Amino acid sequence: MCGIIGYIGTKEALPILIKGLRRLEYRGYDSAGVAVQDKGVLQRVRAVGKIDNLAEKVKDHDIGGTVGIAHTRWATHGGVTEENAHPHVDCSGDLALVHNGIIENYRELKEKYLAKHIFQSQTDTEILAHLIEENYQGDLRSAVQSALALVQGTYGLVAMHRKEPNKIVAARLGSPLVIGVGDHEYFIASDTSPMLAYTQKVIFLDDGELAEISKEGFEIFTLRDQKISKPTEEITWNEAEAQTNGFPHFMLKEIFDQPTVIKDALRGRLILEDGSAKLGGLNMTVEEIQSIKRVILIACGTASYAALVGKNAFERLAGIPTTVEIASEFRYSDPIIDRHTLVFGISQSGETADTLAAIREAKRKGAYVRGIVNVIGSTIARETDGGTYIHAGPELAVASTKAYTNMIAVLLMYALEFGRSNRLAIATGERLVRALQEIPEKMKIVLEQSDTIKKMAEKFKKYDDFFFLGRGVNYPVALEGSLKLKEISYIHSEAYPGGEMKHGPIALLSKDFPVFALLTKNSLYDKMRSNIEEIKARGAPIILIATEGDAQALALTDNVIYVPTTMELLEPLINTIPLQLFAYHMAVLLGKDVDRPRNLAKSVTVE
Ligand code: M6R
Repeated sequence: MCGIIGYIGTKEALPILIKGLRRLEYRGYDSAGVAVQDKGVLQRVRAVGKIDNLAEKVKDHDIGGTVGIAHTRWATHGGVTEENAHPHVDCSGDLALVHNGIIENYRELKEKYLAKHIFQSQTDTEILAHLIEENYQGDLRSAVQSALALVQGTYGLVAMHRKEPNKIVAARLGSPLVIGVGDHEYFIASDTSPMLAYTQKVIFLDDGELAEISKEGFEIFTLRDQKISKPTEEITWNEAEAQTNGFPHFMLKEIFDQPTVIKDALRGRLILEDGSAKLGGLNMTVEEIQSIKRVILIACGTASYAALVGKNAFERLAGIPTTVEIASEFRYSDPIIDRHTLVFGISQSGETADTLAAIREAKRKGAYVRGIVNVIGSTIARETDGGTYIHAGPELAVASTKAYTNMIAVLLMYALEFGRSNRLAIATGERLVRALQEIPEKMKIVLEQSDTIKKMAEKFKKYDDFFFLGRGVNYPVALEGSLKLKEISYIHSEAYPGGEMKHGPIALLSKDFPVFALLTKNSLYDKMRSNIEEIKARGAPIILIATEGDAQALALTDNVIYVPTTMELLEPLINTIPLQLFAYHMAVLLGKDVDRPRNLAKSVTVE
């Protein structure tokens, strides 16, 4: 959702801020703005729509200066207008600030200060500017601390003041902020992506912390002004990984990244001779592992479909009853959790508000809580007592692809480790390890069919509705394929287990309602085949994902995409890729904004 970048150093701030905003575009936004100060003048420019609009508009202003802040806004309170875009300023125009999060008591506060201050927007954020103004007596840090004591809600806040030109103040509660340490320059941002071109040395602020940054250095305080020291961390992601590398879209690049990044997820974690896996971050003894009677996988969206694959694996390999909980439901339920329960919070961004709230609830109730996360240093990674990075690298397209397959890889390894600590035979473990090692090459075979899949999309682009069907391990694949299609091409689609069609959905079938079905050679092949026969009998067009060499698939339809065979539990790692490619090509053919689909944000930090 909203994104923040601030800069203080020796270079011209404006180009760094505009470039930083472009790096934040992936989060989803509808307006953007920048404020820079120089020689006692603070200038602000804002624009609705793409960063290009802002970049054009700043050309009309002579903006110099080496200190500035910028923001991409995803509207929550107040429409998509220039007035509502950040940075917001106080009545004097001396103070400028950008804010991520929601100020819940802004209405009461606004009411209180309405007569005394000039409000120019409908946002919840603007009250912060006026509260800081109320408390400002020449020290921005102290004014921010006093103002924040009055608000309820969440914030990642970055402010600067014309009267203190060598200073940026940032504060965090519930919305991430990270300081980047460069060479005589400092960055402050909502995530590391806008600073990767300049530095990989970072300090993550935690909730309740405030940073005062100048050209000479920075200090960190609590909101009650206790000074604290924090270690600098080195992040492994770099700028090159955050480029499209010649692909027309991030999404396609990320789909093609999968054979490489799955190796990163597996590297050093598989132990062939034990037929097992070892995930260092689990932080549990063998006795603790053996004491686990129940696993709960908490996630949203695509991550929840990866979790469904994980459920299968935990139950089949480790024999541990496992449930998948949608985070937004779980957080308001009354879950039965005890000290024999292990909860995994699964999230690409590590910032999803619902997932975060759900794992906090699980922690309160005494479960072991671990994270399966992509973004290094993200809140879920920091708030769990251990866990595993999936090492998918920066995922910048809104539609998740490589994070999904890497989440599955990590879940499979956890299930293997738990299985081998419980009942799983070494021979089965060995087979699984070998099969996992073969996955990257098999992924490449599927990717080679991208052009064939594009032709398939061309043939089917006229349809308005799709079903995606799968059974067993392929049901989560169907769910994910359906989500991908609707997210980026805006085509209506629904996913069902194959056997469920006859209980209602089959009524929708007609020659205008194509069915995408997963018919790979696994234990449910014959059952799934019968389901597809039922569909064929009703005249619906069919596209099949089938196992290489399965000639029978062609008896059901001409539209067959063949995939390499693998162990049944691992099939989602392979079978999902053609569905990702189908959704991608369909969206491109329909002229949609593939990387930044309407209404969606990459990091869903509001409830
Ligand atoms: O960052 P997270 O993995 O926690 O995000 C969860 C969902 O918001 C996310 O998977 C969403 O469904 C994607 N847009 C799917 O492509």
